[in-house]
Amino acid sequence: MKNNFPSKVSVPIKVFWYSDRIVWPKTVTIITTVNKEGVPNAAPLSGIMHYDNLDKQPRVMLHMRKFAHTIQNICDTGEFVVNFPPYEYTDDILEACRFYPKGVNELDFMRMTPIPSQKVKPPTLAESRQVLECTLDRFYDLDESQRHAIGNVVNILVDEDLVDASRPELCKGVDPTITLGDAGRRYFHWTRIGDIKVEEVQSPPKEEEIRYSVQMKLEWQAGALKKLEEVPGFIRPMVVEMAEQIVADEGDDVVTDARFQRLIDKYTPPELMDRIDTSE
Ligand SMILES: Cc1cc2nc3c(=O)[nH]c(=O)nc-3n(C[C@H](O)[C@H](O)[C@H](O)COP(=O)(O)O)c2cc1C
Repeated sequence: MKNNFPSKVSVPIKVFWYSDRIVWPKTVTIITTVNKEGVPNAAPLSGIMHYDNLDKQPRVMLHMRKFAHTIQNICDTGEFVVNFPPYEYTDDILEACRFYPKGVNELDFMRMTPIPSQKVKPPTLAESRQVLECTLDRFYDLDESQRHAIGNVVNILVDEDLVDASRPELCKGVDPTITLGDAGRRYFHWTRIGDIKVEEVQSPPKEEEIRYSVQMKLEWQAGALKKLEEVPGFIRPMVVEMAEQIVADEGDDVVTDARFQRLIDKYTPPELMDRIDTSE
């Protein structure tokens, strides 16, 4: 079919392909660690992602060059801190990125201020308006040069003036540094949060026809259906799909009252429901 879009061209896949011809904005963190002798270390890292979303064992995943001092310290001591440098500290990010010999404390050359953390030994950077204190859960090597570490989030800290801030105020207050990749591994490109667009997700068109528009595949017992009606309309189709998949994977074809209640208890704890705006 003819259209007016430019045609797509296949580009070579190179090392660091994700920042070569691809634009993939990522939040920059500075990971602080200490080595076995207790000497602190700081390094920028954008290869970090939330790994376990639930509250039972909140975890993050780090992707690092296996020979970086940071990942070696994490594996040796089992602790690290995730700091989010505000946009005005891009110079500090590049300072921490310089290849200092092992055992050199990059923080001695940075503007950001190390202060004691609450639950782990590596320092927190005071200027970071949000902080994750972490312990090592496990690590594995992707190949001979890349290592992944999974960390348990043991403490989430936010500056006191941001605790009750609206989401846009929080975003602007934290002012995270976003990396847009680099040119030639030399010129780093940064940006910060600018426009914030807020849009409301809409419920399926006819609320009263929800049972039919959701398109259930399994039989639902009456109590489970009643319970389902308490789930906000805009997430109900997702809940149905998830519940049916779990029940079907268990080899059953009926969503019983008891099974659905256990799913609700497990996946929609009160803390999660608190996050969901159910107001009209
Ligand atoms: C914006 C930015 C993002 C980075 N992200 C990563 C990353 O995700 N993984 C990685 O291994 N190195 C990353 N680096 C490079 C390390 O920070 C760099 O290798 C550093 O020297 C490691 O320090 P260390 O040996 O003290 O741990 C990044 C650097 C910058 C400037």
